[in-house]
Amino acid sequence: MPNLAVVGAQWGDEGKGKVVDLLADRFQVVARYQGGPNAGHTVVVDGTRRALRHIPSGVFRPGTRVVMGNGMVLDLDKLLLEIDEVEAAGFPLGGRFFLSDRAHVILPPMAQLDALAEASPDRKIGTTQRGIGPTYEAKASRQGVRVADLADLDVLRGKVERIVQGPIGRRLREGGMDPGEPGALARAAFDAGRKLAPHVADTSLLLNRWMDEGASVLFEGAQGTMLDLDHGSYPYVTSSSTTAAGLCAGLGVAPTRVHGILGVSKAYATRVGAGPMPSELDDGPDGVGERLRQRGREYGTVTGRPRRCGWFDAVATAYATRLNRFDGVCVTLLDVLDAFEEIRVCVAYTVGEGGRRLDSVPASLAEAEACRPVYETLPGWRTDTTGVRRWEDLPANARAYLDFLGATIGAEVAVVGVGPDRTQSIVRPGSWLARTFGV
Ligand code: GDP
Ligand code: IMO
Ligand code: MG
Repeated sequence: MPNLAVVGAQWGDEGKGKVVDLLADRFQVVARYQGGPNAGHTVVVDGTRRALRHIPSGVFRPGTRVVMGNGMVLDLDKLLLEIDEVEAAGFPLGGRFFLSDRAHVILPPMAQLDALAEASPDRKIGTTQRGIGPTYEAKASRQGVRVADLADLDVLRGKVERIVQGPIGRRLREGGMDPGEPGALARAAFDAGRKLAPHVADTSLLLNRWMDEGASVLFEGAQGTMLDLDHGSYPYVTSSSTTAAGLCAGLGVAPTRVHGILGVSKAYATRVGAGPMPSELDDGPDGVGERLRQRGREYGTVTGRPRRCGWFDAVATAYATRLNRFDGVCVTLLDVLDAFEEIRVCVAYTVGEGGRRLDSVPASLAEAEACRPVYETLPGWRTDTTGVRRWEDLPANARAYLDFLGATIGAEVAVVGVGPDRTQSIVRPGSWLARTFGV
């Protein structure tokens, strides 16, 4: 059976949670491969809205197994709370939730350091302050604490001591903060580890065995391609590989096991946190940017921050199509555009005095910040699409808009979202997704 990856095509919050939940009943397993509680994935079923931080968005399909891979970083207390919330909502996890023994642990000093760095104007990225960057830093510098370490209090204490005495603790003390007492930090992590122990496994081994036995896996990305550590708008990125390529390292699954890649993109653009966003509409309280924010309820799932809003950036999304080689894309939040007379799409950038034209995303931050959008304008449809359930019932101008997006980014629009609920999605008949995955 084929395996599918679902990957953010923009700056995160594209609606990946909703799409994964929609598709999860076709798969035996949903596995997340990177990031941690910086993610906020929303799923709405029968009017009840649920936000997930660590746990894969397939969890609300009771027959689906869910896996948190080795590429993830986790906050133990937040994960335990999330497990309680999901179980209290009527979705027991026993026997179907698996946590990698190689995933990395966010310790309190790492979250403190994230907050400290954000407090300094010259280092501010606009992070979620969940300790993501410092934890991946500790991983890369071979100082990290892994889930397997939680089983042995002595090993754990030794590692925590090195962190408190090493660069992380030093930077905190220099900033006037107390990294905490290693014994107490280790004890708290050990106690949390005991509660998680029934779920801990070698998840690469399990996934590969399940796939050998014929199970299909949906690989769930977090964040988005433009936040990728290598390919995003560095340094305004997260600290993991958010593209489809990241799933192989983040789950211990070979590239040949990935049979399809679905990009997820809003019908316009949003970004939360700092960094270049050429199509941003910072046009005041009566402007288009604010209308998009209000209609799309564009406030961060994790931090509640207002998201920056703008027109669809086809340059950035075509870049994401190239990096991930999307077989198709899901365009979410189309309904947000229902009210607009005209809709614009950023099809190129210009930079500099002479207006030099760029058709791809530049590496240089200075150049990316100087990019100005070149727009094409399309007619809106001024029709409520939230009740539409068949592709052919979408307004003709909405279908034309979707076809324009597909053509400019170089991937077929295979699914469209017309509202937050599980039922408010339309799969294009005959599309690659419908043909290959039977949705
Ligand atoms: P994720 O991080 O990619 O899973 O996305 P988030 O959950 O952070 O943000 C997407 C937001 O859009 C959530 O509030 C969803 O409930 C909502 N949403 C998803 N798809 C649609 C859609 O098609 N229409 C509308 N109006 N809202 C949607
Ligand atoms: P989901 O999975 C949107 C952004 C932060 C900041 C940058 C680095 O819900 O799409 P970090 O805390 O990761 O070090 O912050 O990345 N960011 C996200 N933006 N959606 C997310 O996740 C994000 N996770 C991180 O706002 O700009
Ligand atoms: Mg989100």
